Amino acid sequence: DANAPDNHLRPNYHFTPPAGWMNDPNGMIYHEGEYHLFYQYYPDGNKWGPMHWGHAVSPDMIKWEHLPIALYPDEKGYIFSGSAVFDWQNSSGLGTADNPPLVAIYTYHDMAGEKAGRDDFQSQAIAFSTDKGRTWTKYDGNPVIPNRGVRDFRDPKVIWDADHSQWVMVLAAQDRVQFFGSPNLTDWTFLSEFGENARNHSGVWECPELFPLTVMETQDDAWVLTVSINPGGANGGSGTFYFPGDWDGKIFSPRREAIFSPTDTVNWIDYGRDNYAGVTFSNAPDGRRTFMGWMSNWNYAQVVPTESWRSAMTIPRDLSLHATDFGTRLRQQPVEELKKMRTKNLPLDFPRIGDGVTNIDLSELGTNGAYEVDLTIDLVDSDATELNLTLSNKNGDVFYRIGYSRARGVTNAFFTDRRQAGPTDFHEKFAPESLTVAPRWSNDGELRIHAYFDRTSAETFFDEGDPVMTDIFFPEEPFTMLTLEVSGSSGEGMPEGWSLVKGDIWG
Ligand code: FRU
Repeated sequence: DANAPDNHLRPNYHFTPPAGWMNDPNGMIYHEGEYHLFYQYYPDGNKWGPMHWGHAVSPDMIKWEHLPIALYPDEKGYIFSGSAVFDWQNSSGLGTADNPPLVAIYTYHDMAGEKAGRDDFQSQAIAFSTDKGRTWTKYDGNPVIPNRGVRDFRDPKVIWDADHSQWVMVLAAQDRVQFFGSPNLTDWTFLSEFGENARNHSGVWECPELFPLTVMETQDDAWVLTVSINPGGANGGSGTFYFPGDWDGKIFSPRREAIFSPTDTVNWIDYGRDNYAGVTFSNAPDGRRTFMGWMSNWNYAQVVPTESWRSAMTIPRDLSLHATDFGTRLRQQPVEELKKMRTKNLPLDFPRIGDGVTNIDLSELGTNGAYEVDLTIDLVDSDATELNLTLSNKNGDVFYRIGYSRARGVTNAFFTDRRQAGPTDFHEKFAPESLTVAPRWSNDGELRIHAYFDRTSAETFFDEGDPVMTDIFFPEEPFTMLTLEVSGSSGEGMPEGWSLVKGDIWG
């Protein structure tokens, strides 16, 4: 609705539902030239409710076309999160050899069962499509995996495990994940579970995913298990972390150094407050692993200052795996396709950040608060201790800030600050006093800050794409000014500043 009073808060190019409530991305799959995005959807309200799978398709993961709702809740329950695969050999028999089906695997949440006090109200089910995902038929033998005695039993993500010629499902079972194997997507065998001894058990585990990825530096074939947790996220509320490891067709073994890292933190996909329940596209060409998450947080998602729709997805991000001093780590890069969103370029041609404050007027770019900022900064030879990059309104009194710090109690850390980025009083956990912080993994003298702002969100890729910090905010006017500033600890006037190796802004 173009006339909705909150329409000015809609992002320009991030995926949002046409109207109503959205949470997790579901069933993400590339098939015959189209990327499919399904999502947890309640079309009749702006808070969580009876779950459907909304549906959209895109040629490039950037421009999305809304399609009719794919799955409606039924007498077996709400349609909770899950995944989709292309059953190319028609192993399920739900299509034909000539027209093999897409198969969606999801959780039934039986509301009546839950209300009646039963514990077995979540089970796994499938649906199939033989018309490129346009229409879906629920399998008449559902559920394919009945509840196994645990209240939280959901979010199946399925992958074809070519090494062991089997479909593998990982799902969340309260405080751990469970793996199942199948030859045909309908008959499933329990394989193993993982999580008992893993760190961070303060919340419920949700939306796990298992996928292979080669360690770039060593060309070693590894597997990555991602897990969303709520609460217990990096900076409060919901968040997603990962374990690099190995998969033998039955058992997942984490690489130890990944859990017990030197800083005693788990490996977070994102250190901002707003990236949850993300997974990767199935079946993407050339082994590409592209991740997208729900850009919100269960702490306050249902009360953010939009009324006619709620929530957006993150931008798509390509994942890669690396051998680093801190163990095997994931890096993320915004997908190449995003370059299409660039209209005007504003190169930054000054040699240094420092010697005062640099204000850059972005209003001439005319992109309604959508900017890509990419800075490479040389940190050596200076008494500067902190760098601030501030996006603000004209007066500078409403702003979102990204920074790098060698002070603030933590040395070598990144932070974001949305405490004055618009209204925050809709929830006490939206902007608490504590800043959002992330460790800087690199000790390199050269620092990169690559940020995507889109009216009500910021996604910042630091250094090589690790860490990443994603935050949402709701300023009434679009931000139109960028301020760069360094400060020092000596107290003797301004520090020398750091040199700007390269700087670009795109509207
Ligand atoms: C995660 C989650 C999933 C569940 C879905 C329900 O945000 O709680 O575990 O399937 O949302 O909408």
